[in-house]
Amino acid sequence: MTASAFAAIVLAAGKGTRMKSARPKVLHPVANRPMIRHVLDAVATLGPARTVVVVAPGMEAVAAAASPASVAIQEEQLGTGHAVMAARPALEGAAIDEILILCGDTPLLTGESLGRLLAERRRRKAGIAVLGMRPPEPGVYGRMIERDGMLEAIVEAKDAAPEVLAVPLCNAGVFAAEATLLWRLLARVDRRNAQGEYYLTDIVGLARGEGVPVVAVEAPHEETAGINSRAELAAAEAAMQQRLRARHMAAGVTLTAPETVFFSADTVLGRDVTIGPFTVFGPGCVVEDGVEILGFCHFTGAVIRVGAIVGPYSRLRPGAEIGEDAHVGNFVEVKASRLGKGAKANHHSYIGDTEIGAKANIGAGTITVNYNGFTKEKTVIGEGAFIGSNSSLVAPVTVGAGAIVGAGSVITRDVAADALALERAPQVEKPGAARAFREKRAAAKAARAKK
Ligand code: UD1
Ligand code: MG
Repeated sequence: MTASAFAAIVLAAGKGTRMKSARPKVLHPVANRPMIRHVLDAVATLGPARTVVVVAPGMEAVAAAASPASVAIQEEQLGTGHAVMAARPALEGAAIDEILILCGDTPLLTGESLGRLLAERRRRKAGIAVLGMRPPEPGVYGRMIERDGMLEAIVEAKDAAPEVLAVPLCNAGVFAAEATLLWRLLARVDRRNAQGEYYLTDIVGLARGEGVPVVAVEAPHEETAGINSRAELAAAEAAMQQRLRARHMAAGVTLTAPETVFFSADTVLGRDVTIGPFTVFGPGCVVEDGVEILGFCHFTGAVIRVGAIVGPYSRLRPGAEIGEDAHVGNFVEVKASRLGKGAKANHHSYIGDTEIGAKANIGAGTITVNYNGFTKEKTVIGEGAFIGSNSSLVAPVTVGAGAIVGAGSVITRDVAADALALERAPQVEKPGAARAFREKRAAAKAARAKK
């Protein structure tokens, strides 16, 4: 028997009014990834034949974020059942025998739970399987009415009698259904309910009316919770961070204070990485094996190679590449720059658009002057070069391998390999002048006090 092909339909046309946002709800990020991407990534682990995202007119940004999934436009938001029907034309011509329906606002949903829903529907020979949950506050969720192990109906809270509202099992909004059955039942759904909407949930009662088996499959409420407000977004972020911390620790990363470290969904960490307290990983970071991050750091789009030591208080911005065994210390900012193997920039520096050779030493307070107000320019520092403290390297400029730049220099011209470059006024020394100055000023002060 050939494996059956399923299509996924992700509903995302809702207005998300309670977010009070100009941005479509499903684009709000969790762990720096739009929530709909989390949903699509979970779906992708199951290998759907097609994925369709249902959006409202004008939601081009959602369509872009959903790529390569296809997009269907639901012209008017007439309910979840209507939204699923809007996806149908996008599935035309595909040999699909099963449909998985989800919402774009459940970023914590895992591929495992979705896989279980599909597997349970087939195992129990049901036409439809619906994911259920037991939230502490069932509130506005649809209630799932079970009888003799069958799901008989889903009743929306707004349509429910008090005894139905007392049912703890709620509809998580995820359906797996046999395709032909789904389309047949959806055609029968009407709008005669409290909200005047086409409810997807009505297909459960309709299926049971035809004698088709329907089952509920429970999943942890923490996973299935949908995001409707900024407070729920923050709660999802916290849950996602917990999940990411646990995952990284399980994979061999030491977090000395896990609850203070924040990851992006795409953060990649090697083995035996140690991360001190209060560190934030923005998108696009890769940290290789054995790296030590001493805490209080902020990284975005940075690569840290094997054995490097970074922090405390380091800021690595996009395009920063910290070479093997290199050191980046406190109050050092690195942007679009590469530090070679064993290079060091340990204190108070700005390094931008710079190429630093192996074993070079960048003294405290060194600034690469990469911006003239109009264009960004490059600095090149050769292998083993030594940049004295409080130097400015005015780009474009090259300091050759093994060269030394004297402390406090403003370097505007290239320095040859192994040369010593100094740029500072000659030192003047006047013997005894400090004492003479003190005596004169003290006398003046005393004279003024007498008046
Ligand atoms: C829905 C369920 C409810 C369930 C809850 C779980 C129905 C009738 N009710 O209620 O049983 O407990 O989800 O979160 O299905 N959407 C569209 N087009 C529309 C309407 C909605 O794309 O016309 C999308 C929304 O963007 C959202 C999803 O469908 O992603 C659910 O819509 P929402 O209005 O949040 O449904 P609920 O009223 O919460
Ligand atoms: Mg609603």
